[in-house]
Amino acid sequence: MSDKANAAENMAAEDWAGEMGERWLRNLDRFESMIAPVGEALLRRADYQPGQSVLDIGCGGGASARAIAAQVGAAGRVLGVDISPHLVVECERRAHAADIANVHFVAADAAAVKLPAGSYDRLHSRFGSMFFPEPAAAFRNLAGLVRSGGRADFAVWAPAKDNPWVGSMMGILRDYIELPKPEPHAPGPFALDDPNYFASLLRQAGFISLEFALWQGAQPIGGAGSTPESACDFVLNSMNFGDMLAEQPATVRAAVEARLLALFRGQHTPRGVEMQALAWLVSARRG
Ligand SMILES: C[S@@+](CC[C@H](N)C(=O)[O-])C[C@H]1O[C@@H](n2cnc3c(N)ncnc32)[C@H](O)[C@@H]1O
Repeated sequence: MSDKANAAENMAAEDWAGEMGERWLRNLDRFESMIAPVGEALLRRADYQPGQSVLDIGCGGGASARAIAAQVGAAGRVLGVDISPHLVVECERRAHAADIANVHFVAADAAAVKLPAGSYDRLHSRFGSMFFPEPAAAFRNLAGLVRSGGRADFAVWAPAKDNPWVGSMMGILRDYIELPKPEPHAPGPFALDDPNYFASLLRQAGFISLEFALWQGAQPIGGAGSTPESACDFVLNSMNFGDMLAEQPATVRAAVEARLLALFRGQHTPRGVEMQALAWLVSARRG
């Protein structure tokens, strides 16, 4: 350990409409495979029924929206909303290729998207609702799109410090780089990690009957079937983790890479590099 440097200036804000969206798209299959276990748990919990209308917030490459479209059937409909126009083009391409007629996509900021009031039975979001700069207004807008008695289902990350996959990787980084103290509730993957805070946002927005369930399970870093080397490449080149190292000397980057490889070798299974992850699965009803 040595060469500590302040990485605050390297921590890029998350620009999902631009670079972040394009990066998610470039690595779409690996990202979607990595978070598939949480997505499956969220879908099981949401239990969509034929004929329902569903809005998927921050739909990414559309995997959840396509799965929901199959569950709600021809009498149902799904609209995926994402702020990244590049991702929306890919969503449309994939839905068309799979010949799915009851799913559509729109490129828009979900915080302000205008759709007919109360026109959806259900709201869904796998890790797409943590990036709003003004979350109170955003959740108010979203609540307005769900009919009274309709339901919302969200997956959001539990705190980084309790999440072994993030905690161990960040622990390595902290041995070399001084990381700024995270600002509570700042837009980003952990913005909604505090159930009290998230519950207050949802209640203010008009949701009732809130239920928080902690999901815990193995997550394949870099997607199913990853090797220690491919997981390391994914973390360094596709996740924010790599950005924090970008300006560091080659010695620091090499040291972090060696530590990550050692970590991943210890977690390598026949299914990939699996690390434990924790997420909140949150459901609520529109009052
Ligand atoms: C972590 S990714 C999750 C993608 C997808 N839900 C999935 O599970 O595969 C977050 C997604 O939220 C989208 N996003 C971020 N802020 C948004 C906003 N204000 N409105 C709509 N989408 C947004 C991003 O473009 C990105 O596709």
